[in-house]
This record gives sequence, structure tokens and C-alpha cells, in this order.
Amino acid sequence: MVRGGSEGVSDQTPRKQEDLRYVFQTQMRVQSAIWKKKAWMPKTFFYFDLTAGSGIVRGEAGSPVIFWQEALAAGLPCRAWFCERDERSAANLGECLRAMGPDVWCRSRVICSDYASAIGRIVSDLRAIQDPKNEWKYGLAYVDPNGTVIESIETISMLSRELPKVDVLANIAAATYKRCRRAFRDEGRPYLADHLGQIGKKHLLVREPYHRFQWMFALATNWADYPEMKSRGFFRVTSPEGMAILDRANLTADERSDKWIEAQAQADYDLFIAEGMCYHCGFKPAEDDFPLRPGGLCNGCDYMMHRED
Ligand SMILES: C[S@@+](CC[C@H](N)C(=O)[O-])C[C@H]1O[C@@H](n2cnc3c(N)ncnc32)[C@H](O)[C@@H]1O
Repeated sequence: MVRGGSEGVSDQTPRKQEDLRYVFQTQMRVQSAIWKKKAWMPKTFFYFDLTAGSGIVRGEAGSPVIFWQEALAAGLPCRAWFCERDERSAANLGECLRAMGPDVWCRSRVICSDYASAIGRIVSDLRAIQDPKNEWKYGLAYVDPNGTVIESIETISMLSRELPKVDVLANIAAATYKRCRRAFRDEGRPYLADHLGQIGKKHLLVREPYHRFQWMFALATNWADYPEMKSRGFFRVTSPEGMAILDRANLTADERSDKWIEAQAQADYDLFIAEGMCYHCGFKPAEDDFPLRPGGLCNGCDYMMHRED
């Protein structure tokens, strides 16, 4: 990965941006359909780009520009907040959005700050817009750190709770989570699945990882019927494909092998118990010797194991 300003740019960037564009298109299509059905709802789509970059990266559209291109194409009324902690990138982003014209610039706010310091304020300011309880604000928050683990997951979790209808999309290098866990073994570094759980939405979709960094997207939402986008490799984590993706992203090969051995042992144990056989000697005790003792042992094995010689 090389630097293109404060952003990391690599051969994988075009695929990320294509998938991101697809998610924006899907989300906006679904949003228009919801609003068509429920005419009484307030109609502004809220977008929060927490790690926005400079808008144009090495001549190509970055996430803020892709967002606005799709919003204008869909004709969706939107407002957008962009956090970027690098001063030069934030200034470039301001220029870039201004150049997109008043429809974009007047509906965008660029905040040169760490998102962890900015989001609390943004969320409380939002109460003055549209609905004071923030319950009818639909939209998307996007976090795309430079291949590091997600910083300030508590901030994202707070945003997710405060804005229950705003989905959260994260671009993650799953391999980084595993590398950090291994390198800082004693410091309790997070598992990716725990971080995704902490976002605090009811449903999760994951896009299959690629490249040795295991780049993947995770989309957290409270909407049970969010379209699965299988053609782009997105699956619900409750589907067999989604479970396999999350397992692979969350655990190293050794951890997966340990988990498999534990699962086999548990299945074995469950089978013995279901058949009424002692898990130690494999014999089925006589009827008056039932039930089996804790650990699935018959009376004889239980006595042998626990007697004090
Ligand atoms: C991978 S780039 C983002 C690229 C952007 N999503 C795009 O598609 O063009 C990450 C950017 O986030 C910024 N950044 C990283 N952590 C941040 C944080 N905690 N708060 C605000 N900006 C952050 C970096 O300065 C960098 O410009």
C-alpha cells in the first residue's frame, strides 16, 4: 500500500470503490422505495463519512465524491458530514466538494478532526434537524481506516445507537486484527467479530475478504430485510456463506482448527449422552444407575475418577 496524501492507495482500491458505489446505489434505491410507500416520512438521507480522505485520490473519485455522484444520480435529498483529521486532506476535500457545485457544497460539512471527538457534537446537533429524537433519520455511516483496526469503536457504537436507522459500513483489513492479536498477545486486543458486534445493530452482512490483507466490507443494520447483494459477495452472517466468511475473517487457521476440534468433541459428547452411554467407558449403565453423572459418567467411572486414594 502506498500513500496518496493521507490515504493509503493500492491495487485493491478500485475494487473497494466499485463495491462502495454498489452499496450506495443499493441503499439509495431501497430508501427511495421506502419513502414512496410511506409518504409521511421526512425525506433526507443522512451520510457520515468518518474517515473521508481528500475526495479525489490519485485522480480517482474517493468515497465523498462517489457518495455525491450516486446521490445526485438517484435524485435523493441528502445531507453529509465528512470527518478527516489530516489538515491538508480536509482542505482538499473542501475544494473538491465546492467544485461539485452548490447542490453538493451547501449540503456538506467538512470537519477537520478525529471522528472520535467530532461525532458526539454532530449527533446532538442533528436533533435540531428534522426530528428531535433522531428516530426517523435514515442514512449510512462509513468508516474506512487505512488498514488499521477500527479506532474508537465506542464512538461508532454511540452513533449507531443514537441513529437507529442509520446503517454502518466498515472497510476492514481482517488480517490486521489477527496480526495485532498475535503481536500484542497479553494486551487483550479485540477480535473482529467482537468489534462488529459492538456496533450494536441487529443484523450484519459481510463481503468475502480478498488479498492477503483480507480486505472486507461489513454492513451493520437494524433492518432485517436489507438486500443481501450476493452478486457482489455480500452475505448475511446468519447464512452458511456469511458464517464461513466471518469465521475466516475472525480467526487464524490455528484458532479455526482448535475451534473445529472443540466442536467435534462436543458433538461426540452430545451423541454419547443422547444414547445414554458413559462418556468415559462407553458402556450403557443399567437402568437403575441412571441418570449419568456430571461430565456424562456412569457411577463406576465417576467413582474411579473422584475417589480419594
Ligand atoms: C483509507 S483513507 C479513506 C479513503 C476514503 N474513504 C476514500 O475512499 O477516498 C483513510 C483516511 O481517514 C483519515 N483518518 C484515519 N483515522 C481517522 C480518524 N480517527 N478520524 C478522522 N480521520 C481519520 C486518514 O487521514 C485518511 O485520510
